[in-house]
Amino acid sequence: MRNLTPENITEVFASYFGKDTDPRVREVLVALARNLHDFAREVRLTHDEWRKGLDFLEWAGRITGPERNEFVLLSDVLGLSSLVDMMHSVPGATSSSVLGPFHVSNPPPLPLGGDLKGDWEGEVVLVEGHVRDMEGNPVPGAKIDIWQTAPNGKYSSQDPQMDIHEFHALLTADENGWYGFTTLRPVPYTVPDDGPVGEILRAAGRHPWRPSHLHMIVEADGFRTLVTEIFPEDDPYLDEDTVFGVREDLVMRYEPQPAGTFPAEGFALSGKVDGPWSKVEFDLILAPADVERR
Ligand code: BEZ
Ligand code: FE
Repeated sequence: MRNLTPENITEVFASYFGKDTDPRVREVLVALARNLHDFAREVRLTHDEWRKGLDFLEWAGRITGPERNEFVLLSDVLGLSSLVDMMHSVPGATSSSVLGPFHVSNPPPLPLGGDLKGDWEGEVVLVEGHVRDMEGNPVPGAKIDIWQTAPNGKYSSQDPQMDIHEFHALLTADENGWYGFTTLRPVPYTVPDDGPVGEILRAAGRHPWRPSHLHMIVEADGFRTLVTEIFPEDDPYLDEDTVFGVREDLVMRYEPQPAGTFPAEGFALSGKVDGPWSKVEFDLILAPADVERR
């Protein structure tokens, strides 16, 4: 085609596909080109702006490696990761939320009632709940992979002073689907903003903060794996998470408990908590594995 115009280029793009192209590949690429072309037409993109965009992607590529993925972060701060999550969430099951870059593989198994706090100082938080299916039945033996920041706002992989497995654990729910452990409150922190994504945040007058949260991946045979996070209702950044991860059903509450009331047995810290502590109750509802995905 040689009679290209700003108006017909999208149609011409669609006509260049081979006959045997996978229909889904064609659908996605045609829609991508249509939206990109519409975007360029809508803002009347200039050569300078187009070049800046390509330089941005080149910078993101340069700093991306096994330890840091700027493209994932870009998708997160643009709301794309959360949009994809929300479009595939199953009503009635716990919402999924961003995985983030700080999960470590092979977290150490922790017995039920175990402790993540270790030698760190602070008020003990007891987190417990049940893993259930969408009919309310328990899911015995569900695996719950948990990770969070230390009180210094860092994940273990960000702090050379920390053991890589600190504040990471793998729990196995009991025959009633119950899980429980003790820890300290995670704290709000900033996403990495010393690269190109930070430039976008600053250009947009946005801050890089995430509300404090506890990450979880819940796996059980016959169920869709749930990647999620839970957030306290009183976090100052709850309604302005820079990666759009908060959902109504993922908001929890720290229930304050008076001194002297910590369970006398069943927890690694039983008999060791004298002061006030707090409790979080959170049930995790899993969708069946064969639930419609698109
Ligand atoms: C996190 O929650 O760990 C996270 C999520 C998205 C971007 C950066 C961090
Ligand atoms: Fe996080």
